[in-house]
Amino acid sequence: MPGHLLAIQNVTVGYGSGGARCLALSDATVSFSTGLTLVTGPSGSGKTTLLSLLGCLLRPDCGKVYVGGREVTGLSEGQRTKIRRESIGFVFQAFRLLRSLTALENVMIAGDVAGRSDSKRARKLLDQLGLGGKFQLKPDQLSGGEKQRVAIARALLRDPRILLADEPTASLDTRSGEQIAAILQSLANDEKRTVVVVSHDPRWESFAHQRVALSDGRVVRQQTKPLIERIDALVNVLIGG
Ligand SMILES: Nc1ncnc2c1ncn2[C@@H]1O[C@H](COP(=O)(O)OP(=O)(O)OP(=O)(O)O)[C@@H](O)[C@H]1O
Ligand SMILES: [Mg+2]
Repeated sequence: MPGHLLAIQNVTVGYGSGGARCLALSDATVSFSTGLTLVTGPSGSGKTTLLSLLGCLLRPDCGKVYVGGREVTGLSEGQRTKIRRESIGFVFQAFRLLRSLTALENVMIAGDVAGRSDSKRARKLLDQLGLGGKFQLKPDQLSGGEKQRVAIARALLRDPRILLADEPTASLDTRSGEQIAAILQSLANDEKRTVVVVSHDPRWESFAHQRVALSDGRVVRQQTKPLIERIDALVNVLIGG
């Protein structure tokens, strides 16, 4: 497993104690390569717990977690925070934007001290995501899809190689959801980032090159799609088949 950009190996995570103890992940092993991986599974199967481990937000009870090819399980909180800030971007279902800040400020908040280079990069990212004319609008003045694009720009400010997205399209209408899926897929395929998406939406399958299925805290399937199937599925989405 060393050398893998992103992986968990024989990981167990439990919450609570005594009779109330619940195993969110149980001896789970899975690895993620460059590209878009879709993680599916019923509610409570451990998907958010898996993302929290990969994002260095949670430590396992046992097992190992690798980020950027490095085992992070035993690192100090300071070292883990550094890895999180430099290598990982997060995108959530509820966008998590600050209502009192503009779109531009919401992106710059991911920077250090809102330096000039952050401002330039934030503007460029918002521009690339189709929000060039909306820098000064606040979240309440943006549509759901636009808010999620601001959140993606914020996640990209530090140019992380890894993006973790928990139900990123669950609050969006079909069209906005497809736009967000296409953006995350392009970040994975064209920019060679490792993108992990948790979603219940079956349409994500056409955008993913790898699929991981969880059930009751166990990895029940890890499957990589052959290239030809990926192209077929994508063509079907594009022509509305
Ligand atoms: N902080 C916590 N304290 C106690 N139990 C927790 C905590 N977080 C998660 N759990 C439990 O761990 C299990 C896995 O939770 P997790 O949030 O990873 O599931 P999930 O697959 O993301 O579900 P959903 O699709 O509903 O978001 C669930 O049984 C949940 O109740
Ligand atoms: Mg969840």
